[in-house]
Amino acid sequence: MARVAVVTGGTRGIGAAVAKALKAEGYIVAANYAGNDEAAAAFSKETGIPSYKWDVSDFDACAEGIAKVEAAHGPVDVLVNNAGITRDSMFHKMTKDQWDAVIGTNLTSLFNMTRPVWEGMRARKFGRVICISSVNGQKGQLGQVNYSASKAGDLGFVKALAQEGARAGITVNAVCPGYIATDMVKAVDPAVIEKNILPHIPVGRLGEPEEIARAVVFLASDHAGFITGSTLSANGGQYMA
Ligand code: CAA
Repeated sequence: MARVAVVTGGTRGIGAAVAKALKAEGYIVAANYAGNDEAAAAFSKETGIPSYKWDVSDFDACAEGIAKVEAAHGPVDVLVNNAGITRDSMFHKMTKDQWDAVIGTNLTSLFNMTRPVWEGMRARKFGRVICISSVNGQKGQLGQVNYSASKAGDLGFVKALAQEGARAGITVNAVCPGYIATDMVKAVDPAVIEKNILPHIPVGRLGEPEEIARAVVFLASDHAGFITGSTLSANGGQYMA
C-alpha cells in the first residue's frame, strides 16, 4: 500500500520539489502551507497534490492539521519538516519579533509537527522524519543569528530523536541545503549573493530544489533504513562538515 507523506512548506520552493518527487515515487502526499493561498492553489492544480493550510509554529493547529490529513489519507508514514522562514538582520538591529518568528517556524515546528505523528509511527514500527536544516545552521551566518540558531537546533532535535526512534523502526535525519534558487534566497540583495555568497560555493552556482528533493526521497526510502541521526549536506561544497 502506498505510504503517506506530509511535507510542510510543501507548495513552494524546496518543499514543492520534495512533494512532487515523493508523489512521482508513488507516495500519497499532502502539502502543508501557511500563507500564500494563490501559490498553494496553483501548486495543487498543477500537481494534483492536496494542500492544507495551517501554521507550523502553532501546536494546536498542527495537531488539527495532522488529524485532517490522516482522516483523508491514512496514517502519516513520512514527515518532511521543511517549512522555514528568514528574518535576516544584523544582531545589533534584530528585534524580539524577528527572533521569535524564526525560532517558532523553523525549530518549535519540529516539536509541533513530529509529536502528533510520533506515537503512531512507534505503534506501526515504521516512520521517516526528515528535517530540512541549513548550511547556515552548521557554520553560522552573519545577519542570521536567529536562523542559524534555529537550524542548529534542528540538528540537535534530529540527533536526539533518532536515538529514541531507532528501536521502533523510525529514522530521523537532517538535510542541510546550501544556497538553493528559491524565493528565500532570491529575497537576498543580488549584490550580496554575487559578492559574499557565490564566491564561497566551489561548484560556482546556486543549487536547484530538485537536488534537495532527491536526497529526501532517498532518506524516505526503505534503502535508507540504516541511516539515522545523520546530517546530509547538499551545498555545492560551501561547507564540509
Ligand atoms: N557574508 C559576508 N559578509 C556579508 C554577507 C555575507 N553573507 N552579507 C553581508 N555582508 C557584509 C556586507 O558586505 C557589509 O560589509 P561592508 O560594510 O564591508 O560593505 C556588512 O556585511 C553589512 O551588511 P549590509 O550593509 O548588507 O547590512 P544591512 O544591515 O543593510 O543588511 C543583512 C544586513 C540583511 C544581513 C544583509 O547583509 C543580508 O541580507 N545578508 C545575507 C544574509 C544571508 O546570507 N542570508 C541567507 C538567506 S537564504 C537562506 O537562509 C537559505 C539557507 O538556508 C542558505
